[in-house]
Amino acid sequence: MVDEVVRLLVSDPEGAYLDLTAGGGGHLFALASRLSPNARLYGLDRDPQAVARAEKRLSGVSQKVRIVHGPFDALQRIAAELGVNEFAGILLDLGISSDQIDDPARGFSFQADGPLDMRFDQSGGMTAADLVNTKTEAELTDMIRSFGEERDARRIARAIVRERQTEMILTTQRLADIVSSQVPPPHRTKTRARVFQAIRIAVNNELGRVEEVLPQAVALLATGGRLAVISYHSLEDRIIKQYFRKQSTGYCTCPREIPVCVCGGKPSLNLLTRKSLTPSEAEINANPRARSARLRVAERVRP
Ligand SMILES: C[S@@+](CC[C@H](N)C(=O)[O-])C[C@H]1O[C@@H](n2cnc3c(N)ncnc32)[C@H](O)[C@@H]1O
Repeated sequence: MVDEVVRLLVSDPEGAYLDLTAGGGGHLFALASRLSPNARLYGLDRDPQAVARAEKRLSGVSQKVRIVHGPFDALQRIAAELGVNEFAGILLDLGISSDQIDDPARGFSFQADGPLDMRFDQSGGMTAADLVNTKTEAELTDMIRSFGEERDARRIARAIVRERQTEMILTTQRLADIVSSQVPPPHRTKTRARVFQAIRIAVNNELGRVEEVLPQAVALLATGGRLAVISYHSLEDRIIKQYFRKQSTGYCTCPREIPVCVCGGKPSLNLLTRKSLTPSEAEINANPRARSARLRVAERVRP
């Protein structure tokens, strides 16, 4: 949905634009072709390998470009460090990139064997193996059910705990085999996908970070500036949809201690997409991984 994103995101061809999930730099590159040479392009990614890839991809464009490493929920601090206090457009293209899923060494894929890692930023934090080998059966059940929306969560969690007593679970293949052993063949691929998704979300605290970044992004938008979010599963999309709805209808944000509303509860966003946009059939045929993408775009308004 690159064309759609660029069309809806650009309100000021001279402005500053930020992709909070720079990945391979594809969206930034497409934006560059629609913007004036005076515009500025910024990118952020938690994965240092993605930062290097995006820098390379953007090396020939005419605008000033800065790509930085960091988690998007630190947006307020990072924007201050970049010296930018207003963006004309901010993009969040959530989830995982093809470069990450196609590299077995990153441990995201159940279709290729590799270390059970799944961290976007491999410089620290718990790996998927740490999590799978230390969480209790109840915690694993809850994680697989909540983040994978998997009905057989309890059975799968029990199998993980049983199997790790014989030998620690350290590879994607071993985890995929354990999951497969708990469901009949026709359901195996979908179940493995749901369990891997659940673990990846937990390892990277993906939903918590999305909740944290949304108000920071809105606060940094110029009046008329736009926020575009692409999500890839219903858990993320629900967070975006509810946040956009709340901010576009207006509600009181006064601290609880104040007995009377003083903020006026005015809306901060105007929705440009009433319903989420989905990729065309042609795009899904060309890139089957795009099939679950949903795009929502809103514009910053001020009373
Ligand atoms: C779907 S890809 C983005 C693709 C990119 N928009 C492009 O055009 O090539 C998602 C990217 O978000 C990054 N990411 C995920 N969570 C992040 C976070 N909390 N902070 C910063 N980057 C994050 C991933 O490392 C990955 O590179």
